[in-house]
Amino acid sequence: MAEGGRFFASAEDGHRHLLALQGMHPTRIEPFLDLAESYVLLNRQRKTSRDLLRGRTLINLFFEDSTRTRTSFELAGKRLGADVINMSVATSSVNKGETLLDTAATLNAMRTDLLVVRHAQSGAPALLAQKVEASVINAGDGTHEHPTQALLDALTIRRRCGRLSGLTVAICGDIAHSRVARSNIHLLTAMGSQVRVIGPPTLIPAEVERLGVSVFHDMALGLRDVDVVMMLRLQRERMASGLVPSAREFFRFFGLDMERLALAKPGALVMHPGPMNRGVEIDSAVADHGQSVIAEQVEMGVAVRMAVLDRLSRGRNS
Ligand code: NCD
Repeated sequence: MAEGGRFFASAEDGHRHLLALQGMHPTRIEPFLDLAESYVLLNRQRKTSRDLLRGRTLINLFFEDSTRTRTSFELAGKRLGADVINMSVATSSVNKGETLLDTAATLNAMRTDLLVVRHAQSGAPALLAQKVEASVINAGDGTHEHPTQALLDALTIRRRCGRLSGLTVAICGDIAHSRVARSNIHLLTAMGSQVRVIGPPTLIPAEVERLGVSVFHDMALGLRDVDVVMMLRLQRERMASGLVPSAREFFRFFGLDMERLALAKPGALVMHPGPMNRGVEIDSAVADHGQSVIAEQVEMGVAVRMAVLDRLSRGRNS
C-alpha cells in the first residue's frame, strides 16, 4: 500500500504522517469524514477544543504561496490549542535538497510535533517525513497530491449529496498539473464515485485512465448528467509554455458558464479549490450562483484539518 494509506494508524506502527491518499482504504475514509463532520458542528457552535493540542507545536512550512490552506491549518491548530508558527520560505531562494535537510535538522532541534509542508517539488514532504520526528502533513507537493483538499472536497460533497458512492464527478481543466485532481481521483474512485476528467489533450496526463477515470475533451459531452462539477485553475507556474493558446480561447472551449452547467444534473454542485481565475476557467455568474459550494469548501477545510491534526496527534500519544 502507498505511504499515504497508513494515515489513520497509530504511531505504534510508525504510521504517523498524511502524505498522500493513493491506496487509502475506504473503511478508513468514512470514519475520518464522520470525525470531520463533528468538527463542522463544533465550529458552527463557536466552540473549540483547546485541550487536545495544548503544549504541542505546529509549524506551517510553506515553500509555495497559499491563502486558504495555510490559514485554515493555522486556525485548525489554534482551535485545538496548539502553538502555531508560520514559516514562509520564498521559493526563489531555496536550494531544494540541501535546504530541506537543513530545515529538517532545525525542526527536530525545536521539537516540533506537527509539520505542515507545501513544496513545489513532488515528494518533498515524504522526504522530510523520513528526517523529522514530527508528524508531517502534505499541504500540496508539486503536481503529486494535496490530500487535505480532497478530504475537504469529499466532506463537502457528502454533506450535500448524502453519499459519495454512485455519484458522477467531472474534474475539469488543467488535470496534468493539478495535485488537487490527483488526490480527488484517488479518494473519489476509492469511495465508489464515477470520475470523469475533462480538458484539452495537452492538459490531460498520459494514461490517466489507469487511475480509473474516463477522459473527455469536450465539455458538452463530459458534463452531461454529472452530479458534481469541479473546476481547476490553469497552473501556469508548473506549465511548459504553449500548452494553452490563450485564456480567452481556453474559456471558450473549457470554461464553465451557465449554459454548460445546464448540461449537468439539475442542482449539480459547482466546486473550485481556489484561487479562482474568473473568466478563465469559470464565469462569475457560475462562481456566485446558488449551485456553487466554493465558500462551503473553505469552511469544510478548517474542520477537515482539525480532524487530521486530531487523528495524527492521538496517534502520537499512543
Ligand atoms: C490548490 C493548490 O495549491 O494546489 N489550491 C489550494 O490549495 N486551495 C489549487 C491551485 O493552486 O490552483
